[in-house]
Amino acid sequence: MKAVTVVPLQQGSAALSDVPEPPESDGPVLVETLAVGVCGTDIEIVTGQYGWAPPGKERLVLGHESLGRVLEAPAGGALAKGDLVVGIVRRPDPVPCPNCAVLEWDFCRNGLYTERGIKEHDGYCSERYRITPDFAVKVDSKLGVLGVLLEPTSVVAKAWEEVERVGSRAHWEPKTVLVTGAGPIGLLAALMGVQRGLDVHVIDQVTEGVKPELVGDLGASYHTGSIAEACPDPDVIIECTGVPSLVFDAMSTVGNGGVVCLTGVSSGGHSISVDEGLLNRNMVLDNVAVVGSVNANRRHYEAAADALAKAERPWLERLLTRRVPIDQWDQALQRKPDDVKVVIEVNAP
Ligand code: BGC
Repeated sequence: MKAVTVVPLQQGSAALSDVPEPPESDGPVLVETLAVGVCGTDIEIVTGQYGWAPPGKERLVLGHESLGRVLEAPAGGALAKGDLVVGIVRRPDPVPCPNCAVLEWDFCRNGLYTERGIKEHDGYCSERYRITPDFAVKVDSKLGVLGVLLEPTSVVAKAWEEVERVGSRAHWEPKTVLVTGAGPIGLLAALMGVQRGLDVHVIDQVTEGVKPELVGDLGASYHTGSIAEACPDPDVIIECTGVPSLVFDAMSTVGNGGVVCLTGVSSGGHSISVDEGLLNRNMVLDNVAVVGSVNANRRHYEAAADALAKAERPWLERLLTRRVPIDQWDQALQRKPDDVKVVIEVNAP
């Protein structure tokens, strides 16, 4: 069967390969892949900066944002032939650490977790894959291809959960949230902010096109320029760019008692000059909390499914700015200026 594969850490190695049918050891549920979303992590993997092949193998099947249709499932279980499903990305470490033992693999403590399409476990960008039922999340058939947004939304649902848990350390009545970056994660973070009844501000570099329109159509405010001008003293900042200068601006701009949630994975090697003393002083005197957030557990996928079900379908559809057939997979991995979410169509829905 066809699969998009890569030799991790080897730029230019990505290819459309012919790979064996998925191994039974991956689970009793056989899924036909419909669509796979592409994100910054995939670009990092194909440009040789990130990723790990499964043990004993040279190549990794790419793809961690998926939507598929069940072809075979054990009788009497929660899944049946024809169901739309999304595969969870991370698998608990085998030790397991205390967090993985209670299914909070997104907080794995020893780093021995695996991630489909990223770390030591083949991903979903193949015509078929296998999975165990506990790692397949059933998607409302009404959502259709938009189910491919579930994985990035789960990452955002976790970020919001962290913000709310940290915020609740004291009386917590947030009113404003600033989101940095109007890519898929930023736009979904803004959507979930609007769903919480907050005054939402999004900052990005582009001055026109689909991103300002999508922000405006949510009822949120779109800004370019500095964080401080866009929204002084917000209660929450969700940082979705990983750009070091924005990360530090976020820490020094968030309001008194506010929470900054960092979701953008930066590449190393970018030094910037920061007045650490002043930053520390302000963070201490203002009770500022900064929390990093990665990945998602099943609870977050379920919260994400609720958020997508409540969202306006036409707005979600506009997030899928390009759909590329698997035979032209390489076009999906090239960024274009008006891209929000680019999707590889593996089998026609
Ligand atoms: C994925 C996460 C993953 C992270 C780090 C992100 O792109 O959405 O599931 O944990 O990369 O590998």
